[in-house]
Amino acid sequence: RIASVTGRQLWDSRGRPTVEAEVLLQSGAVGRAIAPAGASRGAHEAIDLRDGGTAFGGFGVNRAVAGIGSEIAHALAGMDAGDQAAIDAALCALDNTTNKARLGANAIVAVSMAVLHAAAAHAREPLWRYLAKSAKVRIPLPEIQIFGGGAHAGRRTDVQDFMVMCPKAGSFRRALEITGDVYRAAGRLMEAKGPLSGVADEGGWWPNFASNEDALDTLTKAIEASGHRPGEEVFISLDIAANELGDAGGYELALDEGRLSGEAMAARIVEWAQRYPILSIEDPAGQDDWTTMAAVTAEIGDRVQIIGDDVLVTNAARVERAAEAEVCNAALIKVNQVGTVTEARAALDAAAARGWGTIVSARSGESEDVTIAHLATGWDAGQLKVGSFTRSERMAKWNEMLRIEEAVGPDAEFAGFSAFAGAIG
Ligand code: PGA
Ligand code: ZN
Repeated sequence: RIASVTGRQLWDSRGRPTVEAEVLLQSGAVGRAIAPAGASRGAHEAIDLRDGGTAFGGFGVNRAVAGIGSEIAHALAGMDAGDQAAIDAALCALDNTTNKARLGANAIVAVSMAVLHAAAAHAREPLWRYLAKSAKVRIPLPEIQIFGGGAHAGRRTDVQDFMVMCPKAGSFRRALEITGDVYRAAGRLMEAKGPLSGVADEGGWWPNFASNEDALDTLTKAIEASGHRPGEEVFISLDIAANELGDAGGYELALDEGRLSGEAMAARIVEWAQRYPILSIEDPAGQDDWTTMAAVTAEIGDRVQIIGDDVLVTNAARVERAAEAEVCNAALIKVNQVGTVTEARAALDAAAARGWGTIVSARSGESEDVTIAHLATGWDAGQLKVGSFTRSERMAKWNEMLRIEEAVGPDAEFAGFSAFAGAIG
C-alpha cells in the first residue's frame, strides 16, 4: 500500500525543468520516475502543466510538483500499488479534465510510472518481468536516429528523424553494434561535407543538407560505407513529423520546392519509399489529414510500416478510429502523450488487436529514466524508439536494453521482422 508520494523538480536533456515523482510503499519499497517532454507535439496530446512567466523560459514545474505533494499524495495514500488500473483511474478522476491540463500530464505520468516501479520493487522483480508476468517476451527491435532534423534541429531539414533499423541483426546487442558502425560512417561523411556542427536534440548528427533527398542519399551511403548492406541488413526509417509541415490544406517543405498539396505530399513519400531502402515511415501527414495518411498506407503499407504518432497520440479511441479508416499500420506509444500507464497500455492493446506493429517511444526531451525499455519488453511491444546513438539520456535506454537482454537469457528472442506483426510482408 502507498505510504507517501512526493514530487521534485529535476532537469531534462534540453536543460528544462521536469518532474520526478517518488512513491514509498508501507513495505519500504520505493519507485521513482521522471516525466519526458515532447517538442513536436500533437494537438490531441495530454497537456503538461508549466508555470509560465519569465523564470526558466516559462517551463517551470512548481505547480505540477506542488500538486503531487498535496492533492495527488492525499488521493493515493493507502491505495494498493499493485492495482495500476485503480491508481490511474484515481489520477484521471482527480484531474477531472479530458487532457490532464489541471494537474498536468507531467505530474500524472511521473506518478503513474513511479507507482509501477514501486509495485515491481515490492514484488522484487525487474519491471519488464513484473509487467510480462510469466509470459514469454521478445527483445524489441530498435529504431535509432542517425540525423536529427525538423523541430529538433532548427528545421534544418523538413524530415524530423532519419533512422536505421536492423531487423536481421538477431540480437539487440548486434543491432546496436551495426548502428554504431553506421553512426560513425555518417559522421565521417558529414565531416567531408563541411565542419561538423554538433548534434540535434536527440543526438543525431546536426543536418547539413541541400535537400531532404540529400539526407536520404547520405544515409544510404553511410550504411554502405559502414560495411553493412542497405536494404538487406540495415533499413532506413523516417519520422516525417508532417504535423510540423502542414495539414490537409498543404505542406510546406522548406528544403525542397515549397508547398505541396496532400496528394503531392503522399506522392513524394511514396517516391522516397521506392528510391531508398525504407522500411518504416512515421506521420507522413498531419494529425487530422487522415486522407493523405490513408493514401500513403494504401499505396505502400503492404511493404512499409506506416506509424501513427501525432495522429494517434497514444489514445485507444483514436487508434480504433484510425484502424477503421486504415490510416496506418502501426502505433507509436508514448506514455506521456496520454498521461497514464494504463491508458498507454490500452492504446497498445488496441493497436495489437488490429494486427498493427507497436513502438514504445521516448520524447525529444528526456532524462536518465529508463522506464520505456522495460515497457517495450514487458508489454512485448516489438519495437523501441529512443533517439540516436549518443548522449546519455538516449544511451541509458539502449544500455538498459542490453541488461534486459542478458537477464532474459540465451534464448531471448529478438523481435526482428516479427515486430511488424504481419502488417508488412
Ligand atoms: P517529440 O518528438 O518528442 O518532440 O514529440 C518525437 C517524435 O515525434 O516521435
Ligand atoms: Zn513522431
